[in-house]
Amino acid sequence: MKFQHSKATTSAALFSLICSSVASPIWWPSLDFKGLQTVLTSSSEDDNIVSSDGLLDYVNKSGLLARAHELYALAVRSEPSYGHPTRVIGSPGHEKTIEYIKSELSKLGDYYNVSTQDFEAYSGFVYESRLVINGEIPKSAEPLSLTGPTKDKEPVYGRIVHVPNGGCSVSDFDSVLASDSIALIERGTCSFGVKSENAGAAGAFAAVIFDNQPGDTLHGTLGEVLPHQVATFGINREDGQKYVKLIEEGKALEGSAYIDGYINVITTQNIIAETRGGNADSIVCLGAHSDSVAEGPGINDDGTGTISLLEVASGLANYNVTNKVRFAWWSAEEEGLVGSNYYVSQLSPEENRKIRVFMDYDMMASPNYAYQIYDSDNSANPNGSSELRQLYIDFYESQGVNYTFIPFDGRSDYYAFIENGIPGGGVATGAEGIKTEEEVELFGGKAGEWYDSCYHQLCDDTTNLNYDAWLINTRLIAHSVATYGASLKGFPEREVEEKVSSYRSKFKYRGSKLIF
Ligand SMILES: *[C@@H]1O[C@H](CO)[C@@H](O)[C@H](O)[C@H]1NC(C)=O
Ligand SMILES: *[C@@H]1O[C@H](CO)[C@@H](O)[C@H](O)[C@H]1NC(C)=O
Ligand SMILES: *[C@@H]1O[C@H](CO)[C@@H](O)[C@H](O)[C@H]1NC(C)=O
Ligand SMILES: *[C@@H]1O[C@H](CO)[C@@H](O)[C@H](O)[C@H]1NC(C)=O
Ligand SMILES: *[C@@H]1O[C@H](CO)[C@@H](O)[C@H](O)[C@H]1NC(C)=O
Ligand SMILES: [Zn+2]
Repeated sequence: MKFQHSKATTSAALFSLICSSVASPIWWPSLDFKGLQTVLTSSSEDDNIVSSDGLLDYVNKSGLLARAHELYALAVRSEPSYGHPTRVIGSPGHEKTIEYIKSELSKLGDYYNVSTQDFEAYSGFVYESRLVINGEIPKSAEPLSLTGPTKDKEPVYGRIVHVPNGGCSVSDFDSVLASDSIALIERGTCSFGVKSENAGAAGAFAAVIFDNQPGDTLHGTLGEVLPHQVATFGINREDGQKYVKLIEEGKALEGSAYIDGYINVITTQNIIAETRGGNADSIVCLGAHSDSVAEGPGINDDGTGTISLLEVASGLANYNVTNKVRFAWWSAEEEGLVGSNYYVSQLSPEENRKIRVFMDYDMMASPNYAYQIYDSDNSANPNGSSELRQLYIDFYESQGVNYTFIPFDGRSDYYAFIENGIPGGGVATGAEGIKTEEEVELFGGKAGEWYDSCYHQLCDDTTNLNYDAWLINTRLIAHSVATYGASLKGFPEREVEEKVSSYRSKFKYRGSKLIF
């Protein structure tokens, strides 16, 4: 969804804010953003409570640039074992990243209570794969993330059976005698992981999931590792429908599947830094992810969010807060949002209810950027999500830049928070999506190209960043922390328990890959 903001609406909104805080609209022509913040927070100055204009001053380009180079140097530490710079979980580059974050936080004295949380994550890799159906290799075939290898890492052969009802129960497979076959299953109703698990439980050698929507490939992940899962490929709708038609016409299709790869279990770590000051029953939470994909150093994704949070955390240490602010650096985001999911799963109901808002900051400086606000609102998400979205709109307006809305569909670490009743949102600058002509009008850059042409690749290094966008977004993060750290006045209270369950399982992505 694209959205070009109407200047008139926000000016009116700002105007009414001003009118309720100061007497005269005469202020309007000279009132810049800093002025507005001073008006709103000056009453707290005695306690040195954080304010937006104060915290914004701690953010500058040279600070960001210096840290980007430090992070890249850490990614290079993986070269001996990975052959190239990376900060993927389990790599030296990621271990050094975690040490770096902790060591930078320790420089801030005891302003923060820094804690870590260990957890296990699956990390999969496919060296080689091949799918053959009816004597041909489907062009769209691609192994799903977290797929295991075929038996003994050798090709398996079998009949191709078309499983009815999307294979969401084992009996669907039994109805077509799927034992010793390669199961062809349509996307939909349940997750890819469950389809693969059911295929294995029914005795199939491998599974092929075909899309139910048009597209080149099915970029999917099994999302979790279950005991009976088999080697699983994705193919697009066109290929899938072609084979289904042949089977329905009575043709006996055969095929082979081959995947050589592995799934490792890696122990990794989330880092949490919480202000010692502030109301412990009212917590403002924000996060970025510390890990990258295996293919590259991940300086934009999400070195930028990682660094922005460090910069804002150091600035904040010069102030007092009213509400506790909790910074998080999640691990294993690239394996399917594992760290943030684990974190939320470990919260007791009481601890969960203390978190007032979660803000996600992933990919802050894409080279061909757009200022993207997650389209998270109160109708589909916990109460407070619209208010957060409005804070971002007002901020970009105040900086005189345009913005668009993008789907809030589970592609980053907000997922578990929303599903567990915590309002949230965030901003990003774009991944593998293609910039339109209309967006070039709004942001400059190049139409027809990815926002981040190095997304999930080796070239996501210090030259892959737009420093103007990064500065504005780091200032936006500072603004969000200062605003809510100082006051949550008017921000919705947490919702009652019964409503929370209605937010579950609405996201079709788990990180960068589709999950069902
Ligand atoms: C920029 O930020 C860095 C890191 O926060 C700080 O050390 C430096 O003094 C700042 N530079 C300027 C010119 O404000
Ligand atoms: C510091 O944080 C940890 C983890 O949340 C918590 O268990 C501990 O009680 C906190 N310590 C203080 C002094 O707040
Ligand atoms: C926080 O406020 C107290 C007074 O309420 C003050 O003594 C203290 O210095 C302040 N801390 C900071 C970091 O400004
Ligand atoms: C915002 O978009 C408009 C086109 O709708 C464009 O004229 C303007 O220059 C853009 N502003 C910035 C700061 O790029
Ligand atoms: C959301 O919060 C607002 C403001 O606190 C409140 O008026 C409203 O009733 C809440 N809505 C729901 C659905 O809880
Ligand atoms: Zn990311």
